[in-house]
Amino acid sequence: MYNLLKGKKGIIFGALDSNSIAWKVAERAHEEGAEFVLTNAPIAMRMGTINQLAEQTGSQVIPADATSMEDLQNLVDKSMEILGGKIDFVLHSIGMSVNVRKGNHYTDQNYDFTTKGWDVSAVSFHKVLNVLYNSNAMNEWGSIVALTYMAAQRVFPDYNDMADNKSYLESIARSFGYFFGRDQKVRVNTISQSPTATTAGQGVKGFDGFIRYAEEMSPLGNATALECADYTISMFSDLTKKVSLQNLFHDGGFSNMGISTKVMENFSKE
Ligand SMILES: NC(=O)c1ccc[n+]([C@@H]2O[C@H](COP(=O)([O-])OP(=O)(O)OC[C@H]3O[C@@H](n4cnc5c(N)ncnc54)[C@H](O)[C@@H]3O)[C@@H](O)[C@H]2O)c1
Repeated sequence: MYNLLKGKKGIIFGALDSNSIAWKVAERAHEEGAEFVLTNAPIAMRMGTINQLAEQTGSQVIPADATSMEDLQNLVDKSMEILGGKIDFVLHSIGMSVNVRKGNHYTDQNYDFTTKGWDVSAVSFHKVLNVLYNSNAMNEWGSIVALTYMAAQRVFPDYNDMADNKSYLESIARSFGYFFGRDQKVRVNTISQSPTATTAGQGVKGFDGFIRYAEEMSPLGNATALECADYTISMFSDLTKKVSLQNLFHDGGFSNMGISTKVMENFSKE
């Protein structure tokens, strides 16, 4: 371990169980010397095992529905109290599509579900940034990261309306990131992660085939949740102070591939 986050204070959204990317980020942040508050939706408190992570990392848990401005304000105020000062890093690791859950096809959505998924998966990031910015809760040179997926740029038919939500999320990182950088010297980025076997990931139809395909297309293979956590830690550290408004691909090279020899073998006649 490198003490990369020694003395830093953070808020980590989205650790549901030990497969969650946020869970790995919390474990790595703890190892790197950070103190943080864990948060998740009240319903996830009952379903998941976040208290175990809290015990393991010496953290407190504050429930917050990331679509509720009231919950978010309470979270940020209480986090500053608990941590004894302003925040240095925030991870937004939240995604949910009701259309995916209910099995609605992309071409035949229930728009109430579309709106709900958009609010949870994308607008919640704007709300988090809003509360942090207007509460002046971030330290200078702080870092805010949200997790995203490449369906924001390219077509992945079964990613459904989450593709649109991720495009919106990435746009918020740029648009809000401008004001956060200009006014408070805080950086805002998204990390675009490989398909990863988590509760949210496995909700995507055909996930098993999809993750194998990505593995064979990527020169370095898929990035794991732990590797995503390592990258996220580097984005929270002082080693990346001038990286902002970026969508950063963390995918073993997948995003720049056209075809790989391994995938090609499946289509070659000889
Ligand atoms: N798993 C993948 O293949 C993959 C790939 C790229 C990006 N991502 C992104 O990574 C992030 C984390 O997902 P994960 O794969 O670790 O899955 P996960 O299911 O472990 O995490 C999703 C989290 O979102 C939380 N959440 C849902 N609604 C919420 C609400 N209203 N308020 C607060 N929290 C809420 C859930 O409780 C859960 O903890 C998501 O943004 C996801 O889209 C995942």
